[in-house]
Amino acid sequence: MNMKNILIVDDDPFILESVGEILIENRYKVYKSSNGEEMFKVLEKNSIDLILLDVKLPDRTGIEYLPELKHFYPDISIIIITGNAEINDAVKAIKMGAYDYLKKPFKGKELLLSIEKALKWNELLFRNENLQEQVEKDFSFQGIIGKSSKMKELVKMIKQVSKTDSNILITGESGTGKELVAKAIHFSGKRKNNPFVPINCASLPETLLESELFGYVKGAFTGAYNNKNGLFKVADSGTIFLDEIGDMPLSLQAKILRVIESGEFTPLGSTVVLKTDVRIISATNINLRDRIVENRFREDLYYRLNVVNINIPPLRERREDILLIAQHFLEKYSIKMNKKIKGFSEGVKEIFLRYDWPGNVRELENAVESSCALTTDEIIDVKNLPSHLFGNIMRSNRNEFIPINRPLKETIDYYEREYLVQLLKFCNGNVTKAAQIAQIARQNLHSKLKIYNINVKDFRK
Ligand SMILES: Nc1ncnc2c1ncn2[C@@H]1O[C@H](COP(=O)(O)OP(=O)(O)OP(=O)(O)O)[C@@H](O)[C@H]1O
Ligand SMILES: [Mg+2]
Repeated sequence: MNMKNILIVDDDPFILESVGEILIENRYKVYKSSNGEEMFKVLEKNSIDLILLDVKLPDRTGIEYLPELKHFYPDISIIIITGNAEINDAVKAIKMGAYDYLKKPFKGKELLLSIEKALKWNELLFRNENLQEQVEKDFSFQGIIGKSSKMKELVKMIKQVSKTDSNILITGESGTGKELVAKAIHFSGKRKNNPFVPINCASLPETLLESELFGYVKGAFTGAYNNKNGLFKVADSGTIFLDEIGDMPLSLQAKILRVIESGEFTPLGSTVVLKTDVRIISATNINLRDRIVENRFREDLYYRLNVVNINIPPLRERREDILLIAQHFLEKYSIKMNKKIKGFSEGVKEIFLRYDWPGNVRELENAVESSCALTTDEIIDVKNLPSHLFGNIMRSNRNEFIPINRPLKETIDYYEREYLVQLLKFCNGNVTKAAQIAQIARQNLHSKLKIYNINVKDFRK
């Protein structure tokens, strides 16, 4: 165990001497000062674990130093030393955050016991902090953050299906984390040491998509100078992630069905049948049943892909997760942008909690990223938020209560901003007209819009 550093602050040289001796005998490192000024000098230069603080000091009383000590050195334990007459002060001191008090004259044993307890208590507090980190980790599985019951259910399901090999269809609105969930399933299952191969079925024209998925042989078409492995081969013994499966052309749907049923496929221009062992996870944000009705999606393929369905609920149906996820992105972007941003103002938190997030987690991520980029403070403020977050709230909360848990200035800013957004909406982004209604100079309105990061173009039809 490392040696603990104790600072004795007392104007009585006899106390400094005798107490110092006891502590040194008991393997503490001792620092001494006889007044407040010296005390702060010692604190500045050394890492002190505990202060024995006399109440009666020449410049001020030890109690008067407590708020300052607690503010600047919150993790140092303080034990007050007091003469008999000042016992009320001692009680006050404990209320102000001192750990204990000792009445003069005290025995060495008493002193040591109190010190030991104070240091142990501090260690406990410290361990508690680590616990909090642990809890944060408990709210995250493979990068999926959430403490809502819906997300806990989802994580439970992911853990279950990752033990199996069945095909999975992930459904959910755009930005809910479908790809993240697909990765979580792959990387927590037995295929995790083999490839995870994602492909977006909506991003490529049919022929390209086909050659990507199944590969081709040299000379299969103009430009095919070499053999190329298809992704179904690349993903062999791993997982292929077919994103936006609803956009898969019908002709390719038949070939995928064949892979599922026999593990076989034929590259373009080849006659050789290849074998592969892939798990298929697919995702969609549209309703595949509608596509089936429209004859744009094969029903038999649908059942083969949808052995297990995992639906990710939209963010607005699990609002408990919003601030947790926002905080996660805040840390991510403040590191990335090399800024020291600690958190969100109360006003921002409230807007986050009330907004409907049609773009779900991705929209939340974008909002946090852009406000991190705009802020010059340690705290993200309402004026750093993208303006569209306000309009939504205005629409959905006509009879809103006025929140009183934040400073007047911030409240005024918040309402000023809402007013401006509504005004611009009414004027279709015509600043001259808006300035007339608001009865302020155009220039003045422009500078306000700049402060609040409101873009007039957003309101022009
Ligand atoms: N629960 C979550 N915890 C942490 N990050 C999340 C969570 N859900 C989504 N994200 C992040 O949000 C972003 C969007 O997620 P992802 O790309 O997986 O969504 P998606 O459902 O595939 O969206 P789309 O339908 O638009 O393709 C990613 O950066 C992802 O890491
Ligand atoms: Mg996606």
